[in-house]
Amino acid sequence: MAEPLLAIEGLEAGYGPAPVLFGVSLTLAPGEVVALLGRNGAGKSTLIKAAMGLLPPRAGRLRFAGQDISGEAPWRIARAGIGYVPEDRRVFPDLTVAENLAVGRRPPREGLPEWTDSRLFALFPPLAPLSRRRAGLLSGGEQQMLAIARTLAGNPRAVLLDEPAEGLAPVLLEPLAGAILEMAKAGVAVLLAEQNLDFAAAVADRAVLLARGAVAFDGPMARVMADASLRESVLGVSA
Ligand SMILES: Nc1ncnc2c1ncn2[C@@H]1O[C@H](COP(=O)(O)OP(=O)(O)OP(=O)(O)O)[C@@H](O)[C@H]1O
Ligand SMILES: [Mg+2]
Repeated sequence: MAEPLLAIEGLEAGYGPAPVLFGVSLTLAPGEVVALLGRNGAGKSTLIKAAMGLLPPRAGRLRFAGQDISGEAPWRIARAGIGYVPEDRRVFPDLTVAENLAVGRRPPREGLPEWTDSRLFALFPPLAPLSRRRAGLLSGGEQQMLAIARTLAGNPRAVLLDEPAEGLAPVLLEPLAGAILEMAKAGVAVLLAEQNLDFAAAVADRAVLLARGAVAFDGPMARVMADASLRESVLGVSA
């Protein structure tokens, strides 16, 4: 098998003296959508922050696109091609939609089509008529789309999305799922931390289940959806 785009091996990380992740390993291939699932506090956001270099790894190794990125600064990891959309979907409120995209823009990567403004507006049609509006005036759902679009404007090879569906109106979930599938079809690797199982199932090929900072399952998303006792024991949901 080809080397994965992102390979996390035996990662340990935490805040101050408190460990949160205990030897987490996972891989992500180009064009793959992997759902990172787990209860509140399981360590999903911590894993994403550690992969982005926002938390120093205490042990373990991070490889991305053939490079060792363990212990690298976040800006170097972003430069290497990992995009990050945090839980609080920060956009620049005083800049317009188009200006937010311009701030995120980086040159395209070899082998991947460029995310031009017009492709981004095709991916998120509700943003197109708002391009000159200040981002602070957008709805929460529109800001979430803009946060993802701005990250894609950096032409990343992989994106780490931290609970993008959280707090979104149900009517926005299907377009968001469609956009994630489009990103993957364009060759971008997507790691999606999610609490919304149905949303994760609509987009993910594979699932990694975290329980108390360790991997409890790594396999097809369809297995998670078919196995109520796995969902009950790891995620605490039976539905
Ligand atoms: N800044 C922080 N300082 C100290 N501890 C933290 C910090 N952020 C998170 N933690 C702790 O780390 C553990 C994992 O939290 P994390 O945010 O990674 O979970 P999560 O799986 O993303 O949960 P959620 O679904 O609620 O977003 C929790 O015990 C949490 O209390
Ligand atoms: Mg979280």
